Amino acid sequence: MAPNLGADIGRAARILEAGGVVAIPTETVYGLAANALNPNAVARIFTIKKRPSFDPLIVHIGHKERVHHYATTFPEPAQALATAFWPGSLTLIVEKKPVIPDIVSAGLSTVGLRMPRHPLTLRLLQSLDFPLAAPSANPFGYISPTTARHVYDQLGAQIDYILDGGPCQVGLESTIVGFPEGEPVVYRLGGIAVEQLEEVVGRVKVQLNVSSNPQAPGQLKTHYAPKKPLWLGNIEEMAKKIDVSEWALLSFQTDYTYLGAKMNIRLSSDGLLEEAATRLFAVLRSLDEAPVQGILAERLPDEGLGRAINDRLERAAARS
Ligand code: TXA
Ligand code: MG
Repeated sequence: MAPNLGADIGRAARILEAGGVVAIPTETVYGLAANALNPNAVARIFTIKKRPSFDPLIVHIGHKERVHHYATTFPEPAQALATAFWPGSLTLIVEKKPVIPDIVSAGLSTVGLRMPRHPLTLRLLQSLDFPLAAPSANPFGYISPTTARHVYDQLGAQIDYILDGGPCQVGLESTIVGFPEGEPVVYRLGGIAVEQLEEVVGRVKVQLNVSSNPQAPGQLKTHYAPKKPLWLGNIEEMAKKIDVSEWALLSFQTDYTYLGAKMNIRLSSDGLLEEAATRLFAVLRSLDEAPVQGILAERLPDEGLGRAINDRLERAAARS
C-alpha cells in the first residue's frame, strides 16, 4: 500500500499543523486541505492543483460557533440553513474577517464556509485550532475525486498524506449559497437539493455564474470534464451518428444494451437520484480510462439531485 495513504487522524493533524497538505474525505468529494490561516500552506494547494489564483477556496470548520471567528455577519437565512444542513453538503458565502488570508478568498470580501459531515474529517477538524481551506482534490477542471484512490492516482506523489475515509456517500460537491442582498442565492447546485433549501428559507434564486463573470469559477462552462468526448442528449438519436460499437452509453435507468454499444452503464437501475449522484464521478472516471472513443449520456429528471447531476453532465459535455 502507498506509504502516504491511511486513516491516521493524528498524523494528518501533525502534518497540517506543520503547514503541510493533506487530502481529506468529505461526504461530497475528497478535498485537498491546508491550514486556512497560513497563506504559505494554502499556496501549495494552488500549485498542486494548478488552480488559477482568482478561484477562491472553501473554508471547512468543525464547530458551528466558530463561524463568528471568520465571518463579520451571518445573515438570518444563513443561520437557518446552517441549523438545518450542517454538518452537511452546504457552503455558505458570507463577509469575511481579516483573519482569512486574501489567497483563500482570492481577494474577494467574502468567504465560503462549510461544516462537512464525514466523521473522520469532522474529528480531524475538531482536533485542530484552525480551519481547513480545501478545494476538491483533482487537477483543476477535471472530475472531482470520490475515493482516496482517485486522489492518489492523480496527485498522490505531491501530497503529504491522504486520509482514506472510504467512498464519498453524496458524490456531488456542496451546494453553494450566497446572500448578496441578504436573501439566499444558489451559485452552485450540489449535494443539497434546491427543494430542500426552499423547505427552510422559502423560494431561493438560482444564479449559476458562467465564464463571462467567473465569480465562482466552479461555474466555468467547461469543468468537471473527462478527457474523452461526452455528448449529452437523446442516446438513441446520437447513437445513429457514430459507430456505437466503439462508444460507451451512460443512462439514468434505461437499459440501452440493444443499441450494441461497447459499454453500457446505468447510474441507477432503480431510478434513484441519490444513487446516481453517488456513482456519477467514479463512473465518468472509469469511462474516461476505458477503451472507448467517447461517451453518450442522457439528462436525468430535472428535480432534486437530478438538477445538480445535469449541471455536471452539461459542463462535462461543454468541450465536446
Ligand atoms: O463539496 C465541496 O464543496 C468540496 C469539498 C472538498 O468541500 N469542495 C469543492 O471546492 O468543491 P472547489 O474549490 O472545487 O469548489 C469551490 C467553489 C469554486 O467554484 C469557488 O469559486 C467557489 O466555490 N467559491 C469559494 N469561495 C467563494 C466565494 N467567496 N464567493 C463565491 N464563490 C466561492
Ligand atoms: Mg473543484
